[in-house]
Amino acid sequence: MFPKKPPLGFNTWNTFGENISDAMIRETADAIVEKGLRDAGYEYLVIDDCWSEKQRDPVTDKIVPDKVKFPQGMRAVADYVHSKGLKFGMYSCAGVRTCADYPGSYDHEFLDAKTFAEYGADFLKYDFCYKPAHANGPLLYRRISMALENCGRDILLSACNWGCDNVHDWIRTTGAGMYRSTGDISDSFVSFRDIFLSQIDNYCHSAPGCFNDIDMLTVGMRNRGNVAATGCSDLEYRTEFALWCMAGAPLMLGCDVRTMDDTTLQLVKNPYLLRINQDEACRTMFVAQQEHENLHNVYARLLTDHEIALMFTNLTDSPRRQWLPFDALGLPVAVKKGLHLTNAFTGEDCGIAKEYMHVPLQAHDCAVFIAKVVDV
Ligand code: GLA
Repeated sequence: MFPKKPPLGFNTWNTFGENISDAMIRETADAIVEKGLRDAGYEYLVIDDCWSEKQRDPVTDKIVPDKVKFPQGMRAVADYVHSKGLKFGMYSCAGVRTCADYPGSYDHEFLDAKTFAEYGADFLKYDFCYKPAHANGPLLYRRISMALENCGRDILLSACNWGCDNVHDWIRTTGAGMYRSTGDISDSFVSFRDIFLSQIDNYCHSAPGCFNDIDMLTVGMRNRGNVAATGCSDLEYRTEFALWCMAGAPLMLGCDVRTMDDTTLQLVKNPYLLRINQDEACRTMFVAQQEHENLHNVYARLLTDHEIALMFTNLTDSPRRQWLPFDALGLPVAVKKGLHLTNAFTGEDCGIAKEYMHVPLQAHDCAVFIAKVVDV
């Protein structure tokens, strides 16, 4: 499957870990629709690790769903998810076992791809634990991709090898539609900050067809669930979401959508931020101003319709004022052009700025604007 824009959806891992079930998936599907998330673009509902029995079926050799967690089987769950207008995602692993020690797809790729097609999957997250040392990443992702391409169903391959083996150099050759480039996120400011910064040189590998996946969002988790750590403030979650949008990363919600609070909901449905993330040109953002070893950068990203997204960041631990000379965007003072700014968080018209901007920011805060070049 060739995604034209970063995929959007929900994944069970961050909050639920192994505590997944038929009822929990159906309730989540209901919540995604009722809260307007489907209509905002969140279309994939992905079941991560821990969904199967601990061993393959002794007769068919297939991976089979856990009978207690999914008593009606997977097809029934997929049918429900599809009936809500959503797409259904599943999980397996390139090794002999998954990361949480359930059966992996090593040497069973074609059988498993067929099984996932029978289960009604539209998306397969494919992890990298427990692989034999002689089997390398490119080979294993090529194998599963070939199996998916020939399973009779359109299934997006979401590779997850955490950035090993310079994954960005070869992943597009495998047919994967997105690829995890980092280790696992946890619900803390330091975790999302370090993950985001680690990929500054690699966002340029994201383009239609295959997107750099910097992991499921922790936005709105409020330190509950499987990857709980220190938790984040609303201000920090806002920064996390905006960074993922600017990076053009897939947006997979990781909080419990059923009990999501209104602040989180409004943030993840923010039309300006989603427009930046989903801009059809999929251009890479660039560092327009760099300070404090990337902790205090301004990022710019050219959008379609001759607009520019600007993100001022303060990832340091103290308040700072960030400035941006428009020359850094290609607007020298002599051309007499300014920027007409809209605040992406509030939609407020901020008027026209000339030559430069100065933006005061709290620690861990950010500001995002959509800008249009105008005569001044
Ligand atoms: C790995 C992945 C995570 C999650 C777990 C499941 O750690 O990186 O995203 O899928 O496995 O066990």
